[in-house]
Amino acid sequence: MSRRTEIADVLAAPKLNETVTVMGWVRAFRSNRFIALNDGSSAKNLQVVVDQEKFDEELIRKVGFHSSIKVTGQLVESMGAGQAVEVHADQIEVLGETNLDKYPLQPKRQTMEFLRENAHFRMRTNTFSSVFRIRHAVAFAVNEYFHKNRFYYMHTPIITGSDAEGAGEMFRVTNFDPENMPKGEDGQIDWAQDFFGKATNLTVSGQLQAEIGALAMGKVYTFGPTFRAENSNTSRHLAEFWMIEPEIAFGDLEDDMDLAEDFSKYLINYILDNYMDDLEFLDKRIQDMEKNMKKEERRPMGLIEMLKFVVDNDFERITYTDAVNMLRNSKPYKKGRFEFPVEWGKDLQAEHERWLVEKKFQKPVIVTDYPKEIKAFYMRMNDDDKTVAAMDVLFPYIGEVIGGSQREERLDVLVSRMKDFGIEEEELWWYLDLRKFGGNPHAGFGMGFERMVQFITGMGNIRDVIPFPRTPKSAEF
Ligand code: 4AD
Ligand code: MG
Repeated sequence: MSRRTEIADVLAAPKLNETVTVMGWVRAFRSNRFIALNDGSSAKNLQVVVDQEKFDEELIRKVGFHSSIKVTGQLVESMGAGQAVEVHADQIEVLGETNLDKYPLQPKRQTMEFLRENAHFRMRTNTFSSVFRIRHAVAFAVNEYFHKNRFYYMHTPIITGSDAEGAGEMFRVTNFDPENMPKGEDGQIDWAQDFFGKATNLTVSGQLQAEIGALAMGKVYTFGPTFRAENSNTSRHLAEFWMIEPEIAFGDLEDDMDLAEDFSKYLINYILDNYMDDLEFLDKRIQDMEKNMKKEERRPMGLIEMLKFVVDNDFERITYTDAVNMLRNSKPYKKGRFEFPVEWGKDLQAEHERWLVEKKFQKPVIVTDYPKEIKAFYMRMNDDDKTVAAMDVLFPYIGEVIGGSQREERLDVLVSRMKDFGIEEEELWWYLDLRKFGGNPHAGFGMGFERMVQFITGMGNIRDVIPFPRTPKSAEF
């Protein structure tokens, strides 16, 4: 196969009147004359102009929707609207035909649900290729940001024996034969005989191990898959998702919030600066979808406008107590429109978070100092003895994108918190050791990677920003 030029390179620096060879998938073939060719390198298609008389009918017939082809031809300035250059084909070779009678995708608008069922082909659509280019770029920007700011990338384990969040939503890891689980004398399963000599599970968070790193190397982050067996069938939850967890020594909640805000803005700016073609496509897609919606259902801002608004403005910072008061004074509360109660001590639900960010402030909001009962055991107790130094960063349309806290560094307080939560000291002896030897005030957070990608791409469902979503009753592909 002769060398191909990637379409992104053809478009970025067009060598007019030279011969190029490109390969890609046919996104559309209009009037048997204009092929929109895409090879994944760019949101923009390359237009290939086919002079029917040069090619035999049989070959042209095979150039169909999503077939893959190789084209050699001259790159010339385009007379048509919509593109600056086009290729006039001299040779076309069909590398892989697509029989439309049997192919699941069709050249028309198809529902997200249908495309999800055909996740092996959905990345060929404009929407999904833009989403996954951006997903890649956000991951790159994550590593770039931390590297530039001297955070060390730490790979925390995927198989662990601890439940960092204490929510009990874990997937068990075992190589026991399910038909024949070894039992102890008490009739209970004897995990001591299991592969690791103890009960193990897939991690729900790398935080506890990241704290080990921070308390040795100053600033670290983990970025890896996490698993939660929570049975929430929502557009914001996955059973397998990726989390970014920075942890900083010698830092308090204020430092944590500053980091969360700076980091979020960096990621968004990176995409605004480098992936505008994809953003423009996704922005237009949302506008097209919203044409048929009632005004109050439409977003108050376009996608790009919203991203710029977020990076240009300070995040609002309020305490949980203030948030509850605001919510209780809100119109939807007074008119009984919230489904869930708003009461000091109860967790904020998505509908409350969305009111705060979309109606009240119209920008990301950081809510701090939550009641100790509704947050994890490791969060630092405030002087009021009622709240902990927690923070959630809430984004428009998505709700919680980041959850974090200052960590409890005082051994006696931590031990008593663990007792409250029923966590055995032996189970986390090493975590307690960090408080006994060379400990210090430290803080960190976890950003849901898919939720961030969802915000940046404007996709309505989290299942559409991860190539192969894992959700209750669904693990195809
Ligand atoms: O708020 P969470 O549970 O915090 C932690 O796990 C801490 N250990 C983080 C830390 O301080 N190092 O989860 C962090 C973020 C959430 O804000 C949310 O964005 C995302 O992870 N997340 C999920 N994303 C997709 N599907 C799920 N089931 C998620 N659960 C949490
Ligand atoms: Mg949380």
